[in-house]
Amino acid sequence: MIIAPSILAADFSKLGDEVSSVLQAGADWVHIDVMDNHYVPNLTIGPLIPSSLRKSGINAFFDVHLMIKPVDLIIPEFAKAGANLITVHPETTEHLHRTLQLIKSLGCKAGVAFNPSTPLSYLDYIMDSVDLILIMSVNPGFGGQSFIPSSYDKIREVRSLIEQSGRDISLQVDGGVKVSNIKDVRDAGADNFVMGSAIFSTTDYQKTISDVRHELSR
Ligand code: DX5
Ligand code: ZN
Repeated sequence: MIIAPSILAADFSKLGDEVSSVLQAGADWVHIDVMDNHYVPNLTIGPLIPSSLRKSGINAFFDVHLMIKPVDLIIPEFAKAGANLITVHPETTEHLHRTLQLIKSLGCKAGVAFNPSTPLSYLDYIMDSVDLILIMSVNPGFGGQSFIPSSYDKIREVRSLIEQSGRDISLQVDGGVKVSNIKDVRDAGADNFVMGSAIFSTTDYQKTISDVRHELSR
């Protein structure tokens, strides 16, 4: 079970400290939300940020979620900036298979993200190129939104596709995940949880993450 705090909800005036604290509190990955004010209505983080976090000595797993269109040109920049995994949305590229190969050729793991209205049929011929499938449980663009309940069925569908494939693919859920619903998200089949406001809006990250682990162990 992977807990991936989204730094979108962190205090950017002290980002390095925020990332260190959340890792020390027991987070597994650092989720980095990249938005372009074109594919999604918000503008957030460029490659400079992960690069600078790496330079400060943070060596945790960087999970970079690209909400950028077109996406291919910026991918090598995020690989250079220290990304370990790069996730793209199918709508942001003309050639999804090629984009996934590009990510892998740069030594990163590759993920594909599905908005609430994006059909899973994009997975039909690419399961062998994917390390992570991300189900968006909100529409992308902002932190702090409410979990969309129809996501549960989609998570169950993806879990069964992963099982049919026999491959080692993570099933990540992003948007509105919190202590009170994470067990349901896990029960639907997720093994990887992005959490922004549910962690960073609390004062004691260690307590929050241990509450999350407790829910996951039930
Ligand atoms: C939304 C982002 C999410 C978001 C999650 O487009 O991809 O990662 O930051 O934030 P919360 O957990 O607050 O819904
Ligand atoms: Zn995200």
